[in-house]
Amino acid sequence: MTPPGSKDRIGIVGLGMNVPKKILTNFDLEKMVETSDAWIIERTGIRERRICEPGTGTSDLAYPAAVDALKQAGLKPQDVDLIIVGTTSPDMIFPSTACVLQHRLGATAAACFDLAAACSGSVFAMITAQQYLQTGRYKHALVVGAEIISNFVDWTDRSTCVLFGDGAGACVMTKVDRGGMLATDMGADGSAAELLYIPGGGSKAPSSHASVDQRLHYLRMNGTEVFKLAVRRMAESAKTVLAQAGFGLKDLDCLIPHQANTRIIQAMAKLAGIPMEKVFVNVERYGNTSAASNLMALYEAAQSGAIKRGDRVVLVAFGAGLTWGSILLEW
Ligand code: ACO
Repeated sequence: MTPPGSKDRIGIVGLGMNVPKKILTNFDLEKMVETSDAWIIERTGIRERRICEPGTGTSDLAYPAAVDALKQAGLKPQDVDLIIVGTTSPDMIFPSTACVLQHRLGATAAACFDLAAACSGSVFAMITAQQYLQTGRYKHALVVGAEIISNFVDWTDRSTCVLFGDGAGACVMTKVDRGGMLATDMGADGSAAELLYIPGGGSKAPSSHASVDQRLHYLRMNGTEVFKLAVRRMAESAKTVLAQAGFGLKDLDCLIPHQANTRIIQAMAKLAGIPMEKVFVNVERYGNTSAASNLMALYEAAQSGAIKRGDRVVLVAFGAGLTWGSILLEW
């Protein structure tokens, strides 16, 4: 794929983030399941995560992030003509969380849909928005990654419940004069779908007394296999986007990976040949927030000065599906 010419570049002109107030620490988890702060830190790097109060919808979490991103972009909700929400924990099966968010924002001119790519949701949504913006079909896209994954976690299963947290990240995308998206990559492997999935609540195993009794509405994961594939696919994808734009590893200023856990991130960076000093990590404070994680990390990287104007930044994601993808940005 040829990198886009500078007149067709799509960039990020506003960012936002929102997490629930309630903090669940590893010490709190010690009281819920047979685990320890030391085990969780050693295996995952996670110290705490944020958890929504009952009755909160993913759109509620997304709304403040979207408002902040629009404010930073200097746009009004009516200026937005496309809203994509990357999520696997939507408010409802339908309508889409993007439609619920549109109404709350008053973004009446926007076409809206959700995008299901699990933890790759925000990266896939940004790449999708880029296509519409590049053709000129839409001018201003609001892309959100938002999840209340805590409602789909089995809080009696110590092998998964320690890993996840709730959160939302948002960005506004449009054509830019400088910087922007230089290269993208997306991939999928449906043959590995059952390594990470929620079996119940869809058309195949609809909700019933039996599905609840069998705990089919909770996330199931083969952690060891997911670990290996996440490391390999993310390392390959990050290198792919750099190569597409004619760059090597030395040209990379900052890698912003999906924040699944520190060991995956370290192993992936090592395999790709990227020093950890160039890798942005905030998983210790939020756990794995699935589709929200890349945009939350990008937001914090920008806020903290970890990325500066002109830096070459790679966002890389991996999630259920399996799905994976990357974006090379000039910040
Ligand atoms: N506390 C204490 N012990 C635990 C816990 C816990 N929370 N969870 C599992 N254990 C035990 C297991 O029961 C097992 O005990 P056993 O040896 O007596 O059977 C032992 O710890 C080792 O278990 P493993 O699963 O082999 O532990 P591992 O070192 O592989 O770490 C982990 C598990 C952290 C889940 C790891 O496999 C992993 O990081 N996988 C990737 C999963 C992930 O991040 N998924 C997110 C979704 S995909 C994505 O976002 C990329």
